[in-house]
Amino acid sequence: MSTTDANDSKLEPTQVDQVRVVQSTSHDGADETPKKEFILNAFVMNTPAHLSPGLWRHPDNATDKYKTLKFWTDLAKLLDDANFHAMFVADTLGAYDVYKGPSNVVPALASGAQFPVNDPLYLVPALAAATRNLIFGITASTTYDQPYALARRFSTVDHLSNGRVAWNIVTSYLESAARNHGLDHQVPHDERYAIAEEYMEVVYKLWEGSWRDGAVVADRKTGVYAQPDAVRDIGHDGKYFKVPGPHISEPSLQRTPFLFQAGTSKAGSAFGAKHAEAIFVGGQLPDGVKKTVDSIRAQVKEAGRDPEAVKILVGMTLVVAETDEAAEAKRNEYLSYTDREGTLALFGGWTGIDLSKYSDEEDFRFSKSPAVESIVNRWASTVPGSDNLTWNKNRIAEYLALGGMMAKVVGSASTVADELERWADLSGVDGFNLAHITNPGSFKDIIQYLLPELRRRGRFRGEPSTEGASARYVFQGSDRLRQDHPGSAYKWTAR
Ligand SMILES: Cc1cc2nc3c(=O)[nH]c(=O)nc-3n(C[C@H](O)[C@H](O)[C@H](O)COP(=O)(O)O)c2cc1C
Repeated sequence: MSTTDANDSKLEPTQVDQVRVVQSTSHDGADETPKKEFILNAFVMNTPAHLSPGLWRHPDNATDKYKTLKFWTDLAKLLDDANFHAMFVADTLGAYDVYKGPSNVVPALASGAQFPVNDPLYLVPALAAATRNLIFGITASTTYDQPYALARRFSTVDHLSNGRVAWNIVTSYLESAARNHGLDHQVPHDERYAIAEEYMEVVYKLWEGSWRDGAVVADRKTGVYAQPDAVRDIGHDGKYFKVPGPHISEPSLQRTPFLFQAGTSKAGSAFGAKHAEAIFVGGQLPDGVKKTVDSIRAQVKEAGRDPEAVKILVGMTLVVAETDEAAEAKRNEYLSYTDREGTLALFGGWTGIDLSKYSDEEDFRFSKSPAVESIVNRWASTVPGSDNLTWNKNRIAEYLALGGMMAKVVGSASTVADELERWADLSGVDGFNLAHITNPGSFKDIIQYLLPELRRRGRFRGEPSTEGASARYVFQGSDRLRQDHPGSAYKWTAR
């Protein structure tokens, strides 16, 4: 396979202020109102290029070592020592092969854009052993994994991490994943959520209802490991799954791992409102995100759950340095490493749209293709500083090249802290899911410059008081599912 044309693969900084730079305002600390501390996640993937194709070549980046355990243990320790709440590991099950396609993996492969990608779950035991508090949010799909097998794997890592694992429930979106799992095409979008709904019923039955508390006695005198009358079949016989049980793993600290989710469609947000304990949202402006947050909390309430118990985090890409000017210079330097082909490959996978079929000049805000027009207009109307600019292929690539679709903030610690506070106050999010441009470089900058400023403002935690607490304990104050969560109906004691 040939590599991408070198001339094609670089983006130069343009006059477009694609990244929001906000001037610092003074912060005198006089405000006595107690402020909510932010939850901070580091967003990563087991691949060379997660959301910033081309940046793996940058000197502050080490993701080309993603297949070594040392890369991951170093990163986990860095985040844990800085008291990040979680490392959230994305995953996909197929190549981004839409751009210049169909079925063309070259642009993604050449730039390492989420390809190759290793399984994230295997990282957990080693990273748990290397850290004290960090939580591991691991993505796994309800479309391509059997619930019985997934339940066992998550029970295993929940045991080995003593409850520091969360499951990011996804229904997947790539045709290439469908093809490689024996299907001609993807299962239709809403049916994927119908499958996910039954899937959750199966895993709750396995995790919550198959083993009674205290079933394991491990009595060396009598030779009884588990009491037979305390373990039972689940007898699930549904439309999509048939699982007699019992659960093959004994219950772990959390039983059901803490549940992450990020659906945005009608079906996706209804699913999240019912099942998720932390939800990831996107958006370019805080008032737009506020609408999403309000809608999620209303749906959570409608589902009979406490809306405040569900944590909502918004995605952000930060470029932070000693001064606003230094941060801006760093952003421009990053742009010189970006890979246009890899970025357009990611766009193709996310949207199903192959931009190679369009001319370089076409302004997609007025495209004849309704799908492209609606997607591009969603950004064009909200990306700060780009109101009257043409949204052609280059601008889309440039916008996405550093941190993908995440909102972007560039500046000194005080500039970025102002902006995060503004976002949190206006939108009502509980925290931020921080993408990287370089890894570990972006996280090191955040730790060096931003976290001390956030702590000074009472916006970020110091050393947690409970060492080694489970994911659910950290976010909700209890190891087990809350009573208002639908999974609780499957607890043995609940029947
Ligand atoms: C922060 C964030 C992380 C996501 N991570 C993944 C991922 O790792 N794997 C995946 O297949 N989808 C991932 N998604 C996509 C969502 O699961 C979901 O498919 C998408 O938001 C579209 O919503 P819908 O499925 O309701 O249409 C992520 C979305 C967001 C916002």
